[in-house]
Amino acid sequence: YEHGEGPANGFSFDGAFGKWDYAQLQRGYQVYKEVCSACHSLKFVAFRNLQDLGYTEAEVDAEAASWTVPGIDPATGETTTRPGQPTDYFPMPFPNAIAAAAANNNAIPPDLSLITKARHDGSNYVYSLLTGYGEADPAKAAKVGFETPDGLYFNKHFPNVNIAMAPPLAVDGQVTFADGTASTIPQMATDVAAFLTWTAEPSLVERKQTGWFVIGFLLFATVLAFLSYKQIWAGLK
Ligand code: HEM
Repeated sequence: YEHGEGPANGFSFDGAFGKWDYAQLQRGYQVYKEVCSACHSLKFVAFRNLQDLGYTEAEVDAEAASWTVPGIDPATGETTTRPGQPTDYFPMPFPNAIAAAAANNNAIPPDLSLITKARHDGSNYVYSLLTGYGEADPAKAAKVGFETPDGLYFNKHFPNVNIAMAPPLAVDGQVTFADGTASTIPQMATDVAAFLTWTAEPSLVERKQTGWFVIGFLLFATVLAFLSYKQIWAGLK
């Protein structure tokens, strides 16, 4: 089994010249919203951050308002819920860890804000995890006496761990993309992995571009130093 294989054409942000594909980040956000957010929070991301993905201020307001967040009733002081505002953070789908475990066969869905940083080769990891579900190869499984217990799932990329998350992307077309892109499982997996790369490091592309500027500046400074060395020693043989 291959470990940690990524999308066929890689990610737009790979490599030294990598760039975000904003249409892809918006699709990835849609996958998160319509699928993953049922179980996973993004507690370090605020709705206002969506402006980075190319949404206008009005769109961010509308997006925030489409989420329900915890609030306090100003009249009674009781906890209640209200529509989100741009300054709110993405809400937790469960009130606490006990409720989360109870709803998920005793496993707690982790917060996904930083998952692509927390796991080795995180963008490819998320992609492989989402696309690697299926049956264990019976010949290989028999050889090592391997079984997948009831309620856990086999993943060909991580054959020695059984995961408690049921395959979240189960059928092509599960999400209807606003931009009309065909939503195959690999497409949805690539887009949500890209989105989760952005949540974990929104400044990734900026960081790479700063690197080029720094190299350019150092080259310039080297030429300048060389020329002044020539100038200073010009009169002496
Ligand atoms: C675990 C991503 C949807 C329940 C995970 C992990 C990732 C992930 C990356 C593993 C974290 C790690 O490495 O420790 C996603 C994405 C989703 C999604 C991208 C949407 C496409 C869901 C849904 C549910 C769910 C809808 C609940 C119905 C869980 C649970 C775990 C988990 C219970 C913990 C599994 C364990 O510890 O064995 N998810 N998830 N996930 N997810 Fe999801």
